[in-house]
Amino acid sequence: MQILEGKIVSESLKNILKEEVIQLKIKGKRVPHLAAILIGENGASETYVASKIKNCEDIGFKSSLVRLEENIDESILIDEIIKLNNDVTVDGILVQLPLPKQINEQKIISLIDPSKDVDGFHPINMGKLVLGESSFIPATPYGIMLMLEYYNINTSGKHAVVIGRSNIVGRPMSILLSQQKQYANCTVTLCHSRTENLVSYCKEADIIVAALGIPGFLKADMIKPGAIVIDVGITRVEDSSKKSGFSIKGDVDFNAVAPLCSYITPVPGGVGLMTITALLKNTYNAYLQRNSL
Ligand code: GUN
Repeated sequence: MQILEGKIVSESLKNILKEEVIQLKIKGKRVPHLAAILIGENGASETYVASKIKNCEDIGFKSSLVRLEENIDESILIDEIIKLNNDVTVDGILVQLPLPKQINEQKIISLIDPSKDVDGFHPINMGKLVLGESSFIPATPYGIMLMLEYYNINTSGKHAVVIGRSNIVGRPMSILLSQQKQYANCTVTLCHSRTENLVSYCKEADIIVAALGIPGFLKADMIKPGAIVIDVGITRVEDSSKKSGFSIKGDVDFNAVAPLCSYITPVPGGVGLMTITALLKNTYNAYLQRNSL
């Protein structure tokens, strides 16, 4: 069994980006710039956005944060997006989800300039992904693909079971794994909350991507020996032993499942770190594309 170390992969990829930024500076060029919009005071969203900004700083990207109140009118957010779309110094724009209930998420995502949509959530980028055209790939599934590539894991012809059909993780993951390319070429089953006999699908799987958000859901008796297990879960659970008052739990019962796997990602230290790295890669690609216009 090998643990897929998000820290090692992300550090390696971030070092490459860091070097690219040094070269840009030597040439007197501006550096890539990511702008994030954060609405309200959702603790998890605050943590994620703070981490995205810190990672930008770590590798020398410019970042900016637009903070808006929970109860703002949708039009205020729209104005901010238009401003960032028109700002030639901004390469990537992300609106941290979820949004407050008065705001129409799909409408907002569709307003982001697709060439700056580093989350890959815009219908144009989603459409390109489905067609196998080059596009911004949503960061979590992209991060998982980068991990498979880094560890040179053979996925061709394998049965991959993706649990969870969200637009952010499960659905794009199922599309990526089914593509006709290296580190993909899987036969994919996309399972979700209405799937009957979920356990029987899991037991058949060569690769399981667990993205359902139920801590410890995947147990040892639900997997085939030798399976590759990718844990996307990042649920906060109360933990009085931690200074923050919570700890982060994955969707996999790691201690019981790990000994049976060929490869497994830990939580924390697995997919989460790759998500941010993939966002940085998307931002760098947005910068390159915009500078070659
Ligand atoms: N909320 C949870 N994951 C994500 C993500 O990848 N991007 C954005 N914008 N919001 C999120």
